[in-house]
Amino acid sequence: MARVLIADNLEASAAETLKKLGVPVDHRPELSKKPEELKAALREYDAVIVRSAAKITAEMLENPGKLRAIARAGVGVDTIDVAAATRKGVVVMNTPGGNTVSAAEHTIALMMSLARLVPQADATMKKGGWDRNKFVGTQVTGKTLGVIGLGRIGREVAKRAAGLEMKVLAFDPFVTPDKVAEMGYKPAASIEAMLPDVDFLTIHVPLTDETKSLIGPNELAKMKKTARILNVARGGIVDEKALADALKAGTIGGAGIDVFSVEPIVADNPLIGAPNIVLTPHLGASTYEAQENVAIEAAELIANFLLKGI
Ligand code: MLT
Repeated sequence: MARVLIADNLEASAAETLKKLGVPVDHRPELSKKPEELKAALREYDAVIVRSAAKITAEMLENPGKLRAIARAGVGVDTIDVAAATRKGVVVMNTPGGNTVSAAEHTIALMMSLARLVPQADATMKKGGWDRNKFVGTQVTGKTLGVIGLGRIGREVAKRAAGLEMKVLAFDPFVTPDKVAEMGYKPAASIEAMLPDVDFLTIHVPLTDETKSLIGPNELAKMKKTARILNVARGGIVDEKALADALKAGTIGGAGIDVFSVEPIVADNPLIGAPNIVLTPHLGASTYEAQENVAIEAAELIANFLLKGI
């Protein structure tokens, strides 16, 4: 009988779903922090489910043993060496839909936090302060949100921004300008073209060789001094050093960042000391609803693969 390993912190519903479907499963979240033990364990199971903490490297897949499938309870598969898995005939699956709304809501939460300086005001009050003049924010109504990437999450963010009566300017190389206009947003000819016009910029693309440092010093230099940047997609898409420099120089108004080039964040990450920034530790998908959705979705994918070959 095929056996499944859950090697990450996943909602109990993943194991429950597999058990209900008659698939034996072991939940060993501690393996996500022990790469050598994870490597050895992978060979003993037919399939593994991971979230963000467990990284599946080419070296771990050199001798995959029984392993036939990997499911990521999330959208991005950048924590898995997909090319190495494919070479070894190990199928890699993801759960693209389950955390869309949560990621979009977190983007809006960061945008509102930046607009109204909520974290800064909160921190001051907890030290006994009452500084009303220091925390004068900005309305988002009537402001322009630039959306790069109109996939599932980008579309949900755009929809919410439109609900807040923001003007949405969008660019996605895979969505035609007519389709963008049909959705009710203003199409931008390119990223470069949208930058001077946006008050907030949000990025919803995967991290690839093409999107690494998509927003770097040149792009930041084209933006308004008051513009604020949001990244709930992947660390490294916004060049961290360039962003920290721009925040320090006051050539960018603020940033809300949920994802980092190295996670967990390292002490010398330049964003830690930067002004006008709100940081969260990769919380985009961290809601009960999203975690439940992706856990069940990943379990069902693996069960279907093992039981029905689909
Ligand atoms: C994703 O790729 O869907 C998220 O980053 C998942 C997560 O928070 O682990």
